[in-house]
Amino acid sequence: MGGPNADAAGDSFLSERSAKVFVAGHRGLVGSAIVRKLRDLGFANLVLRTHAELDLTRQSDVEDFFASEKPRFVILAAAKVGGIHANNTYPADFIAINLQIQTNVIDSAHRHGVKKLLFLGSSCIYPKFAPQPIMEDALLTAPLEPTNEWYAIAKIAGIKMCQAYRIQYSWDAISGMPTNLYGPNDNFHPENSHVLPALMRRFHEAKVRGAKEVVVWGTGSPLREFLHVDDLADAVVFLMEKYSGLGHVNVGSGKEVTIKELAELVKEVVGFEGQLVWDSSKPDGTPRKLMDSSKLANLGWTPKISLKEGLRDTYKWYLENVKQ
Ligand SMILES: NC(=O)c1ccc[n+]([C@@H]2O[C@H](COP(=O)([O-])OP(=O)(O)OC[C@H]3O[C@@H](n4cnc5c(N)ncnc54)[C@H](OP(=O)(O)O)[C@@H]3O)[C@@H](O)[C@H]2O)c1
Repeated sequence: MGGPNADAAGDSFLSERSAKVFVAGHRGLVGSAIVRKLRDLGFANLVLRTHAELDLTRQSDVEDFFASEKPRFVILAAAKVGGIHANNTYPADFIAINLQIQTNVIDSAHRHGVKKLLFLGSSCIYPKFAPQPIMEDALLTAPLEPTNEWYAIAKIAGIKMCQAYRIQYSWDAISGMPTNLYGPNDNFHPENSHVLPALMRRFHEAKVRGAKEVVVWGTGSPLREFLHVDDLADAVVFLMEKYSGLGHVNVGSGKEVTIKELAELVKEVVGFEGQLVWDSSKPDGTPRKLMDSSKLANLGWTPKISLKEGLRDTYKWYLENVKQ
């Protein structure tokens, strides 16, 4: 634990628990889990700004913020995120806003003496047909999935910025690429949420209505990987403490489930007793998407929350927090 002078004296993240840590995007799925984790660990000096208080796309505001707050550590979990439909409809927003947020934060953080920064991207940075499980070195080896390339290009630029600042300035900027995440504070919007919260909402609403069946698109055969966001937050702290390399690091659970298995599990956790019907006339999407997280495992980190346990926790949060 850091003592009163830990800000100046400590030489690791966990030894500086009184240092200022700026968690950008602290009200989102990822940022809120990181804040919970840091508070649990006794970090007492978190610097937090809502989007309304500090718009990270505004370069001079970000500059003023870093000049006055001078955080010691930065975790960059603010981004404009969305599904295929949003990416297709607002490509300019996805590329411009993400480039602006990350460029402003990374550059200001470096110039105002931040000791270490962690940038978060996602598995969409990898080529559409990358060999599975996807290793870090698949980056930039083939074309991206066109539907979200705007977002992916911005995230790849973020990884490259961290690398460039490390090379030119010997500055400790690292990048983590999480797999599909879920957990408290997820987006349960009926139209534009990811598959897991969308299924949870649909089963819940069907249970409340007393519906006999829920129809889900596709055959249920695609394989996907999910990680509870509290596991991600744990991995983020681990990387802040242990990792200072040039290359980005995949953060996954390493466990694959078919969409069918996922849907059955969500149905069970929610307690929907009707039928689950697959509409195989609808498209399935990519057959398999799994990240290879052996680099992180070799560094010494493994996930702890099983999918069933994570789903129970998420459903509890949903019942308590999402307007029914
Ligand atoms: N969710 C996933 O499955 C997943 C998977 C892999 C990687 N990730 C990565 O994790 C990061 C965070 O994702 P998330 O799922 O936590 O997203 P999220 O829930 O939408 O949270 C993003 C946060 O960023 C804030 N933000 C957006 N634009 C901002 C701006 N201009 N200025 C200040 N704050 C701004 C948002 O505030 P407002 O809501 O007020 O705009 C929100 O609090 C992203 O980099 C994403 O790529 C997520």
